Amino acid sequence: MSLIDGNAIAARIIAELTAEVAALPGRRPCLALVRVGEDPASVSYVRKKEQTAAAIGVDSRIILPAVTITQGELFTLIDDLNADPGVDGILVQSPLPKHLDEVAVFRRVAPHKDVDGFNTLNLGKVAQEDDTGFVSCTPAGIMELLARSGVDLKGKHVVVLGRSLIVGKPIALLALQKRAGANGTVTICHSGTSNLPAITRQADVLIAAIGRPDFVTADMIKPGVVVIDVGINRVADATKKSGYRLTGDVHFASVAPLAAQITPVPGGVGPMTVAMLMKNTVKARRASSAE
Ligand code: GUN
Repeated sequence: MSLIDGNAIAARIIAELTAEVAALPGRRPCLALVRVGEDPASVSYVRKKEQTAAAIGVDSRIILPAVTITQGELFTLIDDLNADPGVDGILVQSPLPKHLDEVAVFRRVAPHKDVDGFNTLNLGKVAQEDDTGFVSCTPAGIMELLARSGVDLKGKHVVVLGRSLIVGKPIALLALQKRAGANGTVTICHSGTSNLPAITRQADVLIAAIGRPDFVTADMIKPGVVVIDVGINRVADATKKSGYRLTGDVHFASVAPLAAQITPVPGGVGPMTVAMLMKNTVKARRASSAE
């Protein structure tokens, strides 16, 4: 078994981007990060995005509306960022509080500033294999991890667990694309799938993105599989100072010995999401300076 080291691969991408940003003409790229509420995971993710932006020379604007913000007020806030020529990229951290319609909020972000790749146009471009848009960061990061780990999906059975808008659906579309590195045969499993282990056992590449700790166990895979674990679950652990530990959707201890390659949690997909967000922000800045 070999470990896919997301920290090391993300660090290489960050180094490439730092050099790229230093050579950009004009003002620095600027990313607006909108977080509504105090979801602990969101607080930590937004902080990480802010720190990484600073490290590569990207300005960030942190916007923390009151948790009681209405849909209309959030739309106005996004409209203002859409119209602001000093802002290149806009990210609204998910999940939003339950009273807000998250998909409607994603749709409100102007496509050319949608560095998260969640709005209708950018998701549609993934289906159309059109590279002019933004691919959402976690799926883009997974494709990059696979490419930089020497995994070519051509002729492989790729099984995706989960059909979310943020990971499951876009990663399935990317793996399916008719291009070098992709071209996989893709199956998506979800809560309505019957006899799920019979399907996951056929996977040459298994991508787990369901948010259920230790869901994938050794009996659900075939030896030699490549495993990408997208889950970042907080599980209570009294031995930790924080009171919790992070675990993926894959039961690492039993699955890792059977896998050809596997991503750890933390230190696998997570750092790649942040690296790809920065890559998209630099892409947005390049496009805005070309206007
Ligand atoms: N929540 C979990 N992953 C993501 C992501 O990639 N972007 C945003 N905006 N929210 C998330």
